[in-house]
Amino acid sequence: MGLKQPDSEPRCLACHALDVPEAQRARTFDATDGVSCESCHGPASNWLGKHTEKGWSYEKSVALGMKDLRDPANRAENCLECHVGTKEKNVDHELIAAGHPDLVFELASFTAAMPKHWVEVGDKPNGTPDPWFEVRELAVSQAVELSAQLNRVVRNAQGPIWPEYADLDCFACHHSLTTAENSWIQQRGYSPNPDVATFSGPLPAYGTGRHPGHPPWNLSRFVVLREVAKDVDAGSAGQLEANIDHLYELISSLNPDKAQVTGLATSTATMATNMVPALKSAPYDQARTLRIMKEVANNADYITRQGERSAEQSAMTMRVLYTAYSAKGKPAGDARIQEGIDALFRNVENPSAYNAFKYAELLKALGGMLP
Ligand code: HEC
Ligand code: HEC
Ligand code: HEC
Ligand code: HEC
Repeated sequence: MGLKQPDSEPRCLACHALDVPEAQRARTFDATDGVSCESCHGPASNWLGKHTEKGWSYEKSVALGMKDLRDPANRAENCLECHVGTKEKNVDHELIAAGHPDLVFELASFTAAMPKHWVEVGDKPNGTPDPWFEVRELAVSQAVELSAQLNRVVRNAQGPIWPEYADLDCFACHHSLTTAENSWIQQRGYSPNPDVATFSGPLPAYGTGRHPGHPPWNLSRFVVLREVAKDVDAGSAGQLEANIDHLYELISSLNPDKAQVTGLATSTATMATNMVPALKSAPYDQARTLRIMKEVANNADYITRQGERSAEQSAMTMRVLYTAYSAKGKPAGDARIQEGIDALFRNVENPSAYNAFKYAELLKALGGMLP
């Protein structure tokens, strides 16, 4: 790509290091520190010294510019600046083709993978315990992530490159070729039926009018939210799905009216953002956690037919939800369920070996094992 060394290339430093102008850097600033405290917690010069004083509070630091990452929505927004991108921070297909990993994210799983250097606020001595924090975190971050993805679609629709392949399902293009009878994609079909209302083929109503060669929009940032929203915020869920259906049709058609994409993606991003308060304040408990797991399993056909990335989200979701669920007491068949979840992960390890039908069977079988 003709870029400089990554450690002096602004395009890379935007995400891989603290991204601050020369004038704001402390003497100790070293770009090769990479992602560091202030990348997540915000600029610290106004509160760093004070926050060790006696009687100081978290809220006082937040008032002086520290980001409130105790809030799952803020936390998700912060991570997604780099894990989906912004106008200034961008991983596109060109960068991916040059070797950059595709950006895949799920807040509860990625938070669990971080070295945990804090106590969740509900677990602090005077905190209000929130035993379902991880479920809340997952639910909220799905909406924040969909919104971040839609904003990226808006930028791309207004930019010089359209379609931007990084928005699409990678493996619609990058799958290994096989004989027709061994192809899950051909088995699924491309749903050429233009009538959504009466369509009842192997694909859900999605992809109406799509033909082989029209690569589908990557819906992995919607498929899990769809199930969570139906349970928590049914009123908004239907409207959100109708919008996503329509956007899918536009984006997957390769040559849509970009003003229409921009308008609809903008309003749908707002719709996803507006769902955040309900997802954040909803009561989560064992029954709801189990219900969402079952909904994900019951909709295995829908989720898996959207491709490997969507299936991967369902694997992460099942692990997060089941971990939270079983922390309150392991149900009968725990070992089998754990093995069922491991099997999901094994079946997305190699995208070329992904088979929607096989994965759907595994997900349904897992649903059947749940209490
Ligand atoms: C939008 C933010 C963003 C930009 C811009 C960006 N990256 Fe990344 N990069 C990431 C994230 C996030 C990951 C981790 C992805 C994951 O594993 O989920 C990553 C991972 C990587 C990895 C893999 C590291 C590993 O441990 O496997 C390399 C190498 C890399 N980036 C190099 C670059 C270079 C070189 C540039 C500039 C040309 C660049 N990145 C620009 C966000 C970004
Ligand atoms: C990748 C993002 C990320 C990076 C980098 C990071 N943190 Fe954190 N940190 C978090 C998250 C998320 C929390 C949990 C929310 C919270 O407690 O504020 C947290 C919590 C904390 C807390 C507890 C705050 C409280 O009272 O609730 C401290 C202290 C802290 N971080 C210090 C640091 C320091 C020092 C560094 C650098 C060495 C650092 N963090 C780097 C994400 C990050
Ligand atoms: C300033 C940009 C930035 C922010 C903000 C950020 N990350 Fe990252 N994250 C990165 C980059 C860049 C990498 C890849 C680093 C590498 O491998 O060298 C990464 C890697 C990771 C990885 C390892 C991924 C893998 O595949 O091994 C996890 C987990 C992660 N981040 C979680 C988080 C979480 C959770 C948050 C929010 C609390 C967060 N990150 C916020 C830039 C960021
Ligand atoms: C519309 C089809 C299409 C989509 C969707 C697509 N790509 Fe590509 N990709 C291509 C083409 C065409 C090339 C260039 C091949 C060449 O020049 O030889 C390419 C090149 C690449 C390369 C470098 C060549 C290679 O095989 O290593 C990688 C890696 C890659 N894409 C990954 C991805 C990822 C990850 C995604 C999803 C985020 C994605 N692509 C989405 C069509 C696509």
